[in-house]
Amino acid sequence: MDFKPKIIGFLCNWCSYAGADLAGVSRIQYPPNIRIIRLMCSGRVEPYFIFEALKSGIDGVIIMGCHPGECHYMTGNYEAEMKYQLLKSLLTYVDLDNRISLEWVSASEGIRFAEVVTNFTNSIQKLGPSPLKKIDKDSELLFNLNALQIAANDYRLRALIGRKRKILDEGNVYNKKYPKEKFEDLQETAIYDEYQKNRIILYLKKENLSVKDLSERLSIAPNKILEYIVDLRGEGLIDLKDIQELTPYYTAKQEA
Ligand code: FES
Repeated sequence: MDFKPKIIGFLCNWCSYAGADLAGVSRIQYPPNIRIIRLMCSGRVEPYFIFEALKSGIDGVIIMGCHPGECHYMTGNYEAEMKYQLLKSLLTYVDLDNRISLEWVSASEGIRFAEVVTNFTNSIQKLGPSPLKKIDKDSELLFNLNALQIAANDYRLRALIGRKRKILDEGNVYNKKYPKEKFEDLQETAIYDEYQKNRIILYLKKENLSVKDLSERLSIAPNKILEYIVDLRGEGLIDLKDIQELTPYYTAKQEA
């Protein structure tokens, strides 16, 4: 097969980039498909970077940082991991989750760097070219990816994911400890709801729609759509636009 994957690697300056450098000066072979972007810390990688890379047709994105406990900014790699887990969960909705990866590579691990790049390149090779390579801008996949990108920026989701370790280890503000499975169910529900709410907003930016219209487009029961509508109106993101034959039609607010 003539497919040569295009891969972007976000590498932290202090460990993984030095590991890549070591692989280079030691002349360790690895696939030439990766283009490296050096950042000071893996915690600097924002979901926005990954979404933009995927939307531009990049076949795979790998983030590399210092091993846990060795980040030069103390907790940057823990933050990277939390953002990565959020991204991974979001991208399952468009079946792109296996096109991203997170690995820890230290400055002395030139061989490991080459292995990680080789394994990731092989896994992307097996997946084939990104479905976003040749896509028209009105495609459903791009629409859904845009909804996920907005969801990734939601401050409540970020707060939930950001406090995950603390809540699981120490409990919430009422000193109530959450079982891990229960927390993960809660997290998945929050991610799903945020995704669907952003799809609703994007649909309503294009045209005014009723609960029934939205229910058909999102394939979600009308009573659940109504719940989302109530939330979105409460948050000031959508408005009632019109009532036609007793049916309310909604629109997204300009700034939403
Ligand atoms: S400095 Fe390497 S992950 Fe933070």
